[in-house]
Amino acid sequence: MNKSERVRVLGVINEHIANDTTADAGGVMRVPMSDFTCQQLLAQEQDVFFRNTALCMGLSSALPEPKTYWSDNETGIPILMVRDDEGRFRAYANVCRHRGSQIAPEGRGSKDRFTCPYHAWTYGIDGRLLAVNKNSHFGNVCRKDLSLFELPSAELHGTLWVRPTQGDPIDEAECIGGLEEDLAHWQLADFPFAHTQVIDVRANWKMAVDTFAENYHVSVLHAKTVGKEMKANVQTCDIFQNNLRFVYPNQKLDLIRFLTSDTKRWPYRQIASTLYFLYPNVIMVVDSFGVDLVRIFPRDDSPSKSRTVHTWYVSPKVQPHLKEAGYTYEERVSRFREVIVNEDYETIAKIQLNAERGTQSEMLLGRNEGALQHIHNTLRMEVGLDVLPVEEN
Ligand code: FES
Ligand SMILES: [Fe+2]
Repeated sequence: MNKSERVRVLGVINEHIANDTTADAGGVMRVPMSDFTCQQLLAQEQDVFFRNTALCMGLSSALPEPKTYWSDNETGIPILMVRDDEGRFRAYANVCRHRGSQIAPEGRGSKDRFTCPYHAWTYGIDGRLLAVNKNSHFGNVCRKDLSLFELPSAELHGTLWVRPTQGDPIDEAECIGGLEEDLAHWQLADFPFAHTQVIDVRANWKMAVDTFAENYHVSVLHAKTVGKEMKANVQTCDIFQNNLRFVYPNQKLDLIRFLTSDTKRWPYRQIASTLYFLYPNVIMVVDSFGVDLVRIFPRDDSPSKSRTVHTWYVSPKVQPHLKEAGYTYEERVSRFREVIVNEDYETIAKIQLNAERGTQSEMLLGRNEGALQHIHNTLRMEVGLDVLPVEEN
C-alpha cells in the first residue's frame, strides 16, 4: 500500500468523520438466514471454495527454510506443504499411495523425508516414493508412478497459496489480482511466524468472517475491551476483484486530527489497521505489531459449525522490543482469543441458533456494512446463487 494510496484512504476516513458517515453511496441489503443454515449450500461451498479454489494458507515464514514442512487438514483435504531442498514452496495431498494413510502428522517441523506410520513407505520432500518396506511383496510396481499427488501451490509476495484439488497451476491474478502492490509493500516474507491457535464456534463459517469485516459493532460489543482502542463505525472499503481491503482507524486518530488536518502528515501505521478479505475465507490484519492471519473453515460438514485458525506473524521491527518488554507471543494471541470467544463468537452462536429456529428470515446489512455486502454477494455468485439487490434509500 503505497504512500499516495494511504493518503487517499486517510482522506476518505477524514471525510467520513467530518460528515458522520461511513459510506457515500449504497443502500441496505437483505441476506436470507438460510445462507447460514442450508446443508445443501454448505456442500456446494465446500466443493467450490474448499476444494477447487486456491486458498491463502499462511505467510512464507510458516515454512522458514528448506526442508521444513507444515501439515494442515482444515480444508477437509489433508495437505502437506513443504519448502523443498531448493527453497521452493510445494504442496501435496498428505495421503500415502499404499493404502491411503496420512503420512505426516499435523503441525510444522523440519524433515527431508516422510515415513508413513502404517507400513513405513518413505517419501522424499520432492514427493517421490523413495522406499517400499519389504519391496518384494509388491512385485513390479513402479515407484516412479507412486509419488505423492502434487497440489497446485504458489508463493505470492510473502503469502502461501494452495488449491486442495489437483489441476491447473494457480493463477496469481485470481488470488491477489489488484493487490500485488499492496502485498509487496508490506514485505510480508520478513514477518516471522509467532504463534497459532484454533477457535471453534457453533456458528456458520460466513458468520465468523462477518465479525471481522465491519467496525460498526466495536463501541458496543467491545466497549470494555478493544473498543477502547478502536474507532467505531469509520472504515474504508476498496474492492479488488473478489478480495477487499478495508482500513480501520484507532482512537489515536482523534489526537492527530486535532493536531493537523493535513492527512499527508498523518502517521498511517500508528493510527490505522489495514485489513484484507482474501477470497473466500481469510481475513488478514496488518497493523504496527505484525500480521494476524485468520483462516475460517466449515467444520464437521455442518452449516452450524466453524473453525477459526488464527496465526500471528510478528513485525520484524517490533519483535526485539517485545522480547525486551517481556511480552510473550502467547499473551498477545490469548488476548485476541478472549475478545473473539467471549464477545464476537458468543454473539454469533446466538444468531446461529435464531437462524435455525426460524425466528428471523433475513438479516439487514447497512451502508456501513458494505464489506459484508461484497463478501456475501461474491460468495453467493460463485456458488450460483442470485446476487442480492442493494436497496437504495
Ligand atoms: S498406508 Fe502408508 S505404508 Fe501402508
Ligand atoms: Fe468484533
